[in-house]
Amino acid sequence: MGIQDCHNPADFRELAKKRLPAPLFHYIDGGADDEITLRRNTSAFDRVRLIPDALADLSNLDLSVNVLGADLDWPVFCSPTAMSRLFHHHGENAVCRMAHKHGTAYSLSTIATTSIEEIGALTPGPKCFQLYIHKDREMSWDFIERCKAANFTSICLTVDTLVAGNRERDLRTGMVTPPRFNLNSLLSFCLHPHWSLNYLVSRKFELANVAGRVEAGTSKLISVIDYINSQFDRSITWKDAGEAIERWGGPFAIKGVMSVDDARRAADVGASAIMISNHGGRQLDGSTAPFDQLGAIVDAVGDRVEVILDGGVRRGTHVLKALAMGAKACMIGRGYLYALAAGGEPAVDRALGKLREEIERDMILMGCDSVKRLNRSRLHFD
Ligand code: FNR
Ligand code: LAC
Repeated sequence: MGIQDCHNPADFRELAKKRLPAPLFHYIDGGADDEITLRRNTSAFDRVRLIPDALADLSNLDLSVNVLGADLDWPVFCSPTAMSRLFHHHGENAVCRMAHKHGTAYSLSTIATTSIEEIGALTPGPKCFQLYIHKDREMSWDFIERCKAANFTSICLTVDTLVAGNRERDLRTGMVTPPRFNLNSLLSFCLHPHWSLNYLVSRKFELANVAGRVEAGTSKLISVIDYINSQFDRSITWKDAGEAIERWGGPFAIKGVMSVDDARRAADVGASAIMISNHGGRQLDGSTAPFDQLGAIVDAVGDRVEVILDGGVRRGTHVLKALAMGAKACMIGRGYLYALAAGGEPAVDRALGKLREEIERDMILMGCDSVKRLNRSRLHFD
């Protein structure tokens, strides 16, 4: 099986599973506790069905959207994800370059393995920086200044990760501190010599944005779980979100909003967008799915903020359903991470291309020539 055999995220997932040492695959793939929310995020889309029209002149399609101050050629962009260089030595750069090639935006995680400055200089395309507010407040506000200097177009503040979710796959494989790789995990690294060799010969692993500021990100080996639990500031409130918005002064999203009340609070403190998200089912298991909350949130604040849906998106039709329900755009995390892990930059190229093609085909099949014309009349609810 090669990347040419991968036609959808499930195929890339299978290939990633073959190519990655098991602890890393399960870190990407897994969710919290019983993974009920992880599964629900995707299955929630099955709750509604699409109603197509016919004979509507589909010779020209318009998939473009303007979101977070950027023009995107199609309504999907890349969610921020931590430590891409662990999954493939092409790392964040590959995803950022391919997002630009495919006319969409890239989001860089605070705990990425490539710096704000390097990503900023990589492409002229739109970029969102994902902010985690650390106990080191000076460093956290400094991220915002660095993003201004590096020409990022927007910032999102993630609010659902004050403590790391209980990802039991990571406990089982040994993705904890100090690393406790059991015999199976060690064997898995030996059985993936290609990954192991590339990892060893390519650039040294570091959390590039906090390097030199947080010992845990550079010299000290620490799991992501312990990093979150020791470094992130649990005392943050809407007042701090308001301060971040003011300091940035441009398009700003709150990522991790799930309730209608929080969506209102986000609008009240001046956010220009919200990302409805439960962190891809990695945090609060038993949480409802982003798609389940979308309609109510759009009805409450859709005229005040851009509503973006994040979580569970695997198919073009998921995107069409979200947009018909009122989302401005969708984001994907595992949708590109499986590909990165399966085959680096060429695989991300293929994954993004496939998803875009799928959306184009689905729009034609729906008899709808513009994503701006998708609305709830195109959805059947049980
Ligand atoms: C994430 N996510 C995430 N979110 C964030 O705000 N900062 C981060 O550093 C990370 N890191 C991260 C790592 C990995 C391996 C995954 C899978 C996810 C969450 C991410 O931005 C997004 O919310 C989810 O991935 C969306 O769900 P899907 O598209 O993966 O179903
Ligand atoms: C995760 C953190 C890093 O989901 O956001 O793994």
